[in-house]
Amino acid sequence: MEHNLRLANEMDVPVLMALIERSVHGLQAAYYSEEQRSAAVGTLFGVDLQLILDQTYYVIEVEGNPVACGGWSYRRLMCGTAGDSGKATEIIRPPEGRARIRAFFVEPGWERRGLGSQLLAASEAACLTAGFTEVELAATLAGEPLYARHGYKEDRRGEIEVLGVTPLPVVYMWKKLSQSPSSS
Ligand SMILES: CC(C)(COP(=O)(O)OP(=O)(O)OC[C@H]1O[C@@H](n2cnc3c(N)ncnc32)[C@H](O)[C@@H]1OP(=O)(O)O)[C@@H](O)C(=O)NCCC(=O)NCCS
Repeated sequence: MEHNLRLANEMDVPVLMALIERSVHGLQAAYYSEEQRSAAVGTLFGVDLQLILDQTYYVIEVEGNPVACGGWSYRRLMCGTAGDSGKATEIIRPPEGRARIRAFFVEPGWERRGLGSQLLAASEAACLTAGFTEVELAATLAGEPLYARHGYKEDRRGEIEVLGVTPLPVVYMWKKLSQSPSSS
């Protein structure tokens, strides 16, 4: 089926928030508890408006309906939606700094069809264009196989605190970009 990758805009936010909630509950259930997922939606997992304003967040649509979103950032925040504090929005300068790969979510029923890989390729290409030679991210346990498949290496394992629930295990990963993005 024909699908289209485009930059996200502010009008997409409510639709993307709903997509992200379905993605978290539909595709992360094997990795995080219901309590962890519910607490993380809207805080750790959500739309970071800063990325939309920076024009670094993408949507993939099928027949006009968003089925996946994800992007990258030249700002310091690694994950989450609280992108309004000075430290979080601080700009990382290429080529020394590593750009962030951020907030990939696929609609349940559309997983394992290459949409995550397509978003990753677009994000890596944009990072290269912006002058970055390395990227890093905090991968959910659900996301780890996608990034590993595309040549990302584990830096370390960690946990992210979400108020009131057991912290969520994540994997900090990085990749040196080549001119052919998203190849392993
Ligand atoms: C992680 C996520 C974005 C992957 O998107 P996707 O569109 O399914 O990924 P792709 O189809 O491009 O996968 C490419 C390859 O990555 C690997 N991969 C992706 N998801 C995998 C999984 N759940 N288990 C094992 N391997 C997986 C496979 O090698 C896959 O190739 P294959 O399907 O031919 O075997 C999607 O599962 C998702 O939205 N998860 C819930 C939200 C989330 O945790 N996001 C990650 C934030 S860091």
